[in-house]
Amino acid sequence: MPKVTFGHTGNTVELANGSSLIDLEDTGKSEVPFGCRSAACGTCAIDVTAGMNNLSPKNEDEIDLLDTLDMDGDKRRLACQCTLYGDITIIPIN
Ligand code: FES
Repeated sequence: MPKVTFGHTGNTVELANGSSLIDLEDTGKSEVPFGCRSAACGTCAIDVTAGMNNLSPKNEDEIDLLDTLDMDGDKRRLACQCTLYGDITIIPIN
C-alpha cells in the first residue's frame, strides 16, 4: 500500500492504492486538517515534497481555488482533491 509521510514530523500512514487523501481522516493519524472537502476552503492545503507523480493531476476546481488563494506553485496541492497512487511526502500548510 502507498505510504504517506508527514515531512514535518516523520510520521507515516498507509492508504490503499487509489484512495483519496481525505481517507487520512479515517486512519485517526491525519496531520492534515480538512474542512469543506470540495475545493472551496483551502484548509487542506499541503506541500508535496516527494512523490508528486504519485498523485492524480490537479483538477480545474483545485487550480481555481489555489489561484484565488494565491497559493499556486509546483508543490502546492489541496489534499481533498488528490488521489494516491504511490508513496508521497507532504507538509500541511495550515
Ligand atoms: S478541505 Fe476545503 S479545500 Fe480541501
